[in-house]
Amino acid sequence: MSCWPNILSDKSLEVVKNAGILLLQREIPDSVNIQVAKAAQSAGVSVILDAGGVESPIPPELVAVVDILSPNETELARLTNMPTEDFEQIKQAVGKCHNVGVKQVLVKLGAKGSALFTEGEEPIRQPIISAPKVIDTTGAGDTFTAAFAVALAEGKSQKECLKFAAAAASLCVQVKGAIPSMPERKSVLQLLHSN
Ligand SMILES: Nc1ncnc2c1ncn2[C@@H]1O[C@H](COP(=O)(O)OP(=O)(O)OP(=O)(O)O)[C@@H](O)[C@H]1O
Ligand SMILES: [Mg+2]
Repeated sequence: MSCWPNILSDKSLEVVKNAGILLLQREIPDSVNIQVAKAAQSAGVSVILDAGGVESPIPPELVAVVDILSPNETELARLTNMPTEDFEQIKQAVGKCHNVGVKQVLVKLGAKGSALFTEGEEPIRQPIISAPKVIDTTGAGDTFTAAFAVALAEGKSQKECLKFAAAAASLCVQVKGAIPSMPERKSVLQLLHSN
């Protein structure tokens, strides 16, 4: 029995069940995230949780249905109560996520790039795609996670997903604001072709 209320209608959940992928973040109430993530899981739709949003611990019932958890370094430190100052410490903290059942962790490392950790495998690191001018990094994380989700839903390899996401985030930091700075696919592909 779940202690979380069901809020969404079956009709709304159908949308989730027919999605290519489900991307959640923590500005949405946990009760809603849990309901949609369970619906996605029941339909074989992968669930990504961006750790950004409220800072409370992630309820175990949500952790149980997440395929990929995506924190930045600060969020990873807070969620695991471990330091994340260097890559070795990040690895240790990610290990704690694996121990509670999260198989994949996609860590955003700001100007140091990103890394995808899959339990039992070597992490895949992705450096940033350098931007000629960094104007505003607001929204870079959301752009990164969203672009990664798009690429994964399209069946790209993990390495390709990381590179696609890095390209989208690199374009994002070159424009002011959070929403207007999210690039279109055309620009992301152009940048990838020139790199
Ligand atoms: N200076 C930079 N130049 C190019 N790309 C960058 C730069 N800073 C960040 N990025 C890209 O953006 C991605 C996500 O950035 P970051 O780690 O800051 O996310 P975040 O802290 O979750 O951000 P947000 O504030 O949007 O939640 C990085 O993994 C990297 O690919
Ligand atoms: Mg973020």
